[in-house]
Amino acid sequence: MKLRYEKHGDGKPVFLLHAFPLNNEMWRENSESIIENGFKVIVPNLEFDSQNPDSLSETALKIAEIADAENIKKSVFAGISMGGYVCFNLFRLRPELFAGLFLCDTNSSADDEQKRKSRFQTIAKLETDGNRILVESMLPKLLCENTKSDKKEVVEKVEKWILQSNVDSNISALKAMANRKDHDYLLPEIKVPTKIIFGKEDKIMDFKIGEKLHTQIPESELSVIPNAGHLPNIEQPEKFNKELLEFLLKINY
Ligand code: MLT
Repeated sequence: MKLRYEKHGDGKPVFLLHAFPLNNEMWRENSESIIENGFKVIVPNLEFDSQNPDSLSETALKIAEIADAENIKKSVFAGISMGGYVCFNLFRLRPELFAGLFLCDTNSSADDEQKRKSRFQTIAKLETDGNRILVESMLPKLLCENTKSDKKEVVEKVEKWILQSNVDSNISALKAMANRKDHDYLLPEIKVPTKIIFGKEDKIMDFKIGEKLHTQIPESELSVIPNAGHLPNIEQPEKFNKELLEFLLKINY
């Protein structure tokens, strides 16, 4: 099955790949800012085939199919967390599509055994209790303390997205992430302009991972967004949009 996606604006293309357990709605505010500045955004909803043991690769190829169908030869790909995992798979499979890479709170390594185990425990709970379990286990870690105390509308929005998400799709995504390939070896081969962004208070992805990505990806820059956790694009949209836009405007494609 093909991926559903939205496209808006005219100009150089930018793919925006969302985090788990969210959907392409999480990019709304960022998309508007990019479109206003003359770019075309393509925002897919990431879906994974639960029967395919390498479904992250399959989903990455479906992103490439969208690029081919839209006659896009080169694009910037931006991914937050799970969206970043898809970017690494896509770079392995179709590197020629990349004019630039924008990675946010993500990792190139595969899961260790403990993480894999915890994903399968979450799947078991999702099967019995539904998405409420994700709100309880993930919401406190997705957002930083300031967001939780001062930006109730952001907390409510993320909670709503999680509750509205599809349980079966979440189970497939957890399986896909648990089974994903390790892409650490690929980092020195990413020879396109790359920006790495981390929320200063990310409780899910340690900042050391950001430093690893920066050290190993040759043309990379690393920036930290204060007062943000794992989702800086919605916790600090102005700062995030500025970083993304400055990056896009520097790339010739
Ligand atoms: C995400 O934000 O996409 C997830 O936290 C990624 C993960 O669970 O590894």
